Amino acid sequence: MADTKTFLEEKDIPKVWYNIAPDLPTPLSPVIHPGTKKPIGPQDLAPIFPMALIAQEVSNERYIEIPDPVREVYKLWRPTPLYRAHRLEKALDTPARIYYKYEGVSPAGSHKPNTAVAQAYYNKAEGVRRLATETGAGQWGSALSFACQIFGLECKVYMVKVSYQQKPYRRSMMETWGAKVVASPSTDTHAGQSILAKDPNSPGSLGIAISEAVEDAATHDDTKYSLGSVLNHVLLHQTVVGQECQTQFEKLDDYPDVVIGCVGGGSNFAGISLPFVKEKLAGRKIQFIAVEPEAAPSITKGQYAYDFGDTAELTPLIKMYTLGHSFVPPSIHAGGLRYHGMSPIISLLCHEGIVEARAVHQVPVFEAAIQFARTEGIIPAPESAHAIRVAIDEALKCKQSGQAKTILFNLSGHGYFDLAAYDAYLSGRLEDYAYPKKEVEAAIAGLPRI
Ligand SMILES: Cc1ncc(COP(=O)(O)O)c(C=O)c1O
Repeated sequence: MADTKTFLEEKDIPKVWYNIAPDLPTPLSPVIHPGTKKPIGPQDLAPIFPMALIAQEVSNERYIEIPDPVREVYKLWRPTPLYRAHRLEKALDTPARIYYKYEGVSPAGSHKPNTAVAQAYYNKAEGVRRLATETGAGQWGSALSFACQIFGLECKVYMVKVSYQQKPYRRSMMETWGAKVVASPSTDTHAGQSILAKDPNSPGSLGIAISEAVEDAATHDDTKYSLGSVLNHVLLHQTVVGQECQTQFEKLDDYPDVVIGCVGGGSNFAGISLPFVKEKLAGRKIQFIAVEPEAAPSITKGQYAYDFGDTAELTPLIKMYTLGHSFVPPSIHAGGLRYHGMSPIISLLCHEGIVEARAVHQVPVFEAAIQFARTEGIIPAPESAHAIRVAIDEALKCKQSGQAKTILFNLSGHGYFDLAAYDAYLSGRLEDYAYPKKEVEAAIAGLPRI
C-alpha cells in the first residue's frame, strides 16, 4: 500500500509566494473609492494597511520573496503533511485517489496563520503598535492573536456574536495569546452601535465585524487593520500551501485531476489552487471546485459587481461575486463561510470559467464530516467539511464511471473547537437553511451604482 503521509523538510518551505496577478487571463478590475468613484491609490489605503502589504496588493511580480523571520515562524508547523485518504477511499469503494493537505497542524488549527504571521511581521517592521481585526469562526482571530504575540503587537478582535456564543473556548484561546476579544456588533464602535440600535439581537456577521475593525483602525493612530481573507495579499501568502503540494506530488509521482477547497472569502481555496491554476493556464487539464454554503452562496447565486466589503460601507468598492453588503447570512455552524462577498481573484477565475463553484447544505456537509472523522480520524472544521462533501461526491462519481481520478482537497482546519456544532448534528438538531432568496434580492437591489 502507498504511504499515508508525504512529508517535506523545513528546507522545503517555499522561499517565495506565488502572485497570480501577471498570469490572470484578464486584469483585475481596479478598486474604487466610494466617494469619487475613481480608482484608489496607495495613499487611500495607508491609514489602515502598512505600505509593504499595499505594495503586495497591487504587485505584478510573479514571485515575492518570503522574509526570513516569517519563514522561521512558519517552521513551527510547516511544511504541513499531505495525506492519502486510504481509509476514506476504502469506505467509499472508489477507484479515485483522494489526498488532503492538512493545515490544521498550525498553532491556531487552520491555514490562517500563513498570512497572519506575514501581516504581523510587516506591520511590526513599519512601527505599528496594535492590530484590529474581525473573526467569524474564531480561526482567523486565533491566528492573528498568535502572530501578534510572536511579533510583540497588541491585538483587538471583533468576534461575530453567534460564534462568540457558540465557541467560548476560541475566545479563551485568543486571550491566551494576549488578544482582547469583544462580541460583534459591539458598543465599542459607531458601526456596532448603529447595528445594535436597529437590531439589539443581531447575530452579527463578518461584514459587520469588518466594519467595526476598520473603524477601530481608522480612529486610532497606532493601529492598523488586518483582514484574514479576500484581499490579494492574503491569497498571496496562502500560496505556500499549493506550492508545498506540488513538491509533495512530485515525490509521489502523481498529479491532481481535481482540486477542491471551501470558500468563505477565498483564501484557503486560493492557497491550495493558485499554484495549480498557473499550470492550468499553461495548458494542463485540472478541474477546480470552490465550495460554498447554500446559506451564503455568493458565487453560485450572487452577482459579479462592485460592492463594499463590509456592512457599514467603510471599505473601498471591489469587483466580486456578492450577495449584497447588507445581507446577513443565516447562522450556520461554518461561521468562517458566512460572508456576503468573495475575493476578487477567485471571483475573476470563476467568471472566466477557470474555477467552478458549488453550493452545499450544512446537513450533508456534517454527514461528510462524520464519515471523514470515522475513517481518517481527524475531526474537520465545519468550513473544511464543505470541501470534504464535494471530494466525497467526486469520488462517488468515479465509482460510477470507473475513473481513477486523483482528487486533492484542502483540509483547512480541525474542528476541535466546533464540537457544539457536532453535538447539534449528532442529536438531530442541525437544520438546513433554505436559500434566503428574498433577503438576497433586497440586498442586491442596494448594490452601489458604478
Ligand atoms: C477552517 C477554515 N476554513 C476556511 C475558512 C474560510 O475562509 P477562506 O475562504 O478565507 O479560506 C475559514 C474561515 O474562518 C476557516 O476557519
